[in-house]
Amino acid sequence: MSLTMPTNSPLLPPSRTGGAVPADHITNGFYGQDILSVSQFSRDNLDYIFGVAHEMQVLVERFGSADLLQGKILANLFYEPSTRTSSSFMAAMLRLGGQIIPINNVQYSSVTKGESLPDTVRTLECYADVIVLRHPELGAAATAAHYATKPIINAGDGVGEHPTQALLDLFTIVQELERLDGLRIAMVGDLKYGRTVHSLTKLLSNYNVEFVFVNPAILPMPADVLQVVENKGLRFQQTQDVHAVISDVDVLYVTRVQKERFTDMAQYDRVKDHYVVDEELMTHAKERMVVMHPLPRLNEISYAIDNDPRAAYFRQMRNGMFIRMALLAAVLGKA
Ligand code: NCD
Repeated sequence: MSLTMPTNSPLLPPSRTGGAVPADHITNGFYGQDILSVSQFSRDNLDYIFGVAHEMQVLVERFGSADLLQGKILANLFYEPSTRTSSSFMAAMLRLGGQIIPINNVQYSSVTKGESLPDTVRTLECYADVIVLRHPELGAAATAAHYATKPIINAGDGVGEHPTQALLDLFTIVQELERLDGLRIAMVGDLKYGRTVHSLTKLLSNYNVEFVFVNPAILPMPADVLQVVENKGLRFQQTQDVHAVISDVDVLYVTRVQKERFTDMAQYDRVKDHYVVDEELMTHAKERMVVMHPLPRLNEISYAIDNDPRAAYFRQMRNGMFIRMALLAAVLGKA
């Protein structure tokens, strides 16, 4: 099964070639917009989406569902495994009265027959009003958006970005700690291949925060992400030792080592259990702080801290549905 672009594909315009190139801020409303990168979000845009997400939360808690997106169809196109992102987008659409075309197993679609990504999205947009895409290649969502006329929402493009995850992460931090400015935020684990931390770091750089990047030596935050932080004049520290920083952080954002991105499995085995957040570590943490994780977790957070009030990862995952409801309503012109 080939997931690569056809070799005869026309060159893409420079501003639409993938996660590394910042997109312009959304300035004229979300209707009809692609959501490809967190670089599209200004603080005003974020306030707006968080406001709508909060309304969606109230709606779900009071009524369960609404008919805002009745008659609209979402194509959910996943070339990589997913539980939360995929099912929360589907739940978001269904709770707003819309319908879904779920293509979670591309091996049963014409992708197996060799169909290219451009042709697959051009097919789906004949039937759907918006396409959510997860794909193993960096820049795949931008490529899809180049060919599609309907909005494309990036649900993860390889090691690039995961903008909707970063939005729900930021929303969670605000809900849990009631502010962003002034926070000290540690990102722990696979900062090289983890697309969630790439997007979250860039998005947080819109605020006056301080970063601590905690990673095994071979899995550092990419230079282009550090550059975004530096360009904003924000402070960051890099260390391999989570114990050295735990007592001083407001957010501990833990990530899984991304096994599927490694070519050398012996190297993966050496780093996979590098960090374990357990009860002992948490005794050194502030009383008011949060532990977050995009999930799935492997061994990096002990089950023993799931009931610690500072463990926010299950609340974080629930927030994903509210954020995705807000984004779908916004790009379909109903927010
Ligand atoms: C993340 C992803 O797919 O990047 N999962 C998610 O969407 N919540 C994180 C991961 O797979 O480790």
